[in-house]
Amino acid sequence: MTSRRGFLERFVQLTFGALGAVVVYPVLRFLSPPHVAEDRSARVLAAKVADLSRDGWKIFPFGSEPGILVEVAPGEYRAFSATCTHLECTVQMEKASHRIWCACHNGYYDLEGRNVAGPPPRPLTRFTVHVEGEDIYVSRA
Ligand code: FES
Repeated sequence: MTSRRGFLERFVQLTFGALGAVVVYPVLRFLSPPHVAEDRSARVLAAKVADLSRDGWKIFPFGSEPGILVEVAPGEYRAFSATCTHLECTVQMEKASHRIWCACHNGYYDLEGRNVAGPPPRPLTRFTVHVEGEDIYVSRA
């Protein structure tokens, strides 16, 4: 037969165990975000033609990452992942040198997305560009 003291000790242990689970579980769920599969066939409206003719390049959201759209010649566009292959900073266009530049560690890519200077170890991922009227769409394939 369980003593009154034993019963109370067990009751307190279970209560604190349940309380710990109620606190710890939400914290663990918060710290590990849910896995959301990215739509690999996604096509996004990256820019309007008028946007590109003003600056010659634009960063646009592509899924969970940034992309960069560049007008390499009048009416000719290329799109890449804007995530540097070195330590994942966001790249930008350096119009003076006609190259894509990563300011974090002075990395450079040419307008084919090839890593040409600085620490980036790999080329940028290139995307496909579709122009439909005034809209510039980008897709992975
Ligand atoms: S993160 Fe781009 S050069 Fe280092």
